[in-house]
Amino acid sequence: MTGSGERTTGNEERPEDGDRPGSGRIDSNIPNVARMYDYYLGGYHNFAVDREAAEKILAIFPDTPAAAHTNRRFLQRAVRYLAGEAGVRQFLDIGAGLPTQGNVHEVAGAGCEVVYVDNDPVAVAQARALVEDLPNVSVALADLRDPDALLADPHVRGHLDLDEPVAILMVSLLHFVPDDAEPGRIVARLRDATAPGSHLVVSHLTLDGVAEAPASQGQEVYRTSTAPIVPRSRADILRLFEGYDLVEPGLVWLGEWRPEPDGTPEGVSHGYGAVGVKPKY
Ligand SMILES: C[S@@+](CC[C@H](N)C(=O)[O-])C[C@H]1O[C@@H](n2cnc3c(N)ncnc32)[C@H](O)[C@@H]1O
Repeated sequence: MTGSGERTTGNEERPEDGDRPGSGRIDSNIPNVARMYDYYLGGYHNFAVDREAAEKILAIFPDTPAAAHTNRRFLQRAVRYLAGEAGVRQFLDIGAGLPTQGNVHEVAGAGCEVVYVDNDPVAVAQARALVEDLPNVSVALADLRDPDALLADPHVRGHLDLDEPVAILMVSLLHFVPDDAEPGRIVARLRDATAPGSHLVVSHLTLDGVAEAPASQGQEVYRTSTAPIVPRSRADILRLFEGYDLVEPGLVWLGEWRPEPDGTPEGVSHGYGAVGVKPKY
């Protein structure tokens, strides 16, 4: 923790939050990617327009709910590894989404500082309502595409000490960042702002192995949403880890990343995932 003086959770509503450039506005007429994902996971924070778009995806890829759960379990295994074996005590979960089960602060434990970030005001409001009594958890309304503003956000600055290792999570997020927004540059900016020993967790949608017709139909559905989707190849996703050493087993299908030792079978994966560590030297 940095900062001094009176301690607040930082989760209080701030009127200026909704006015940040690119932070998004509440619009129930446009399918919203956070709420579509909530629908895949069986949640209730979604509107008819989100369900309609999600149903179109399900007509093309019926196993999307199973893949969304595989993604959540990847996130939870990664956080368990980081808070356990890797000894990380600070987590910056960008594109955290609407609260669901097994959120990062619940998996990491009370001894960890956690800052959730999303550019969706509804996701931020819901997350703040969930964690308002937790002094070690904060929620920022910020956009990944402006990493300097994200790093300068008072919720981030007030809760995380960037001179100490931080785990940055971008789970099921970077496929919402188009090439012209330069996802590689954004990841590098965040990497450079963090201390050696910091980690990066990425899961990313791919269409590797998917036929062209369903692939373009799926992208077409997201084209009208709050964040058009940009699936990437394994090679392109691997490049996002430049400057990090990948921990075992490297970049793999999400269900294959350190499966539970009890042999619990993982479901279908629609993406790749990895955990990287910023080397000390
Ligand atoms: C599919 S959800 C992933 C939620 C969670 N990380 C998980 O994997 O379970 C993607 C989230 O990223 C958020 N998002 C999309 N683009 C963003 C951006 N440019 N900056 C911050 N958040 C963004 C969406 O609002 C949504 O909540």
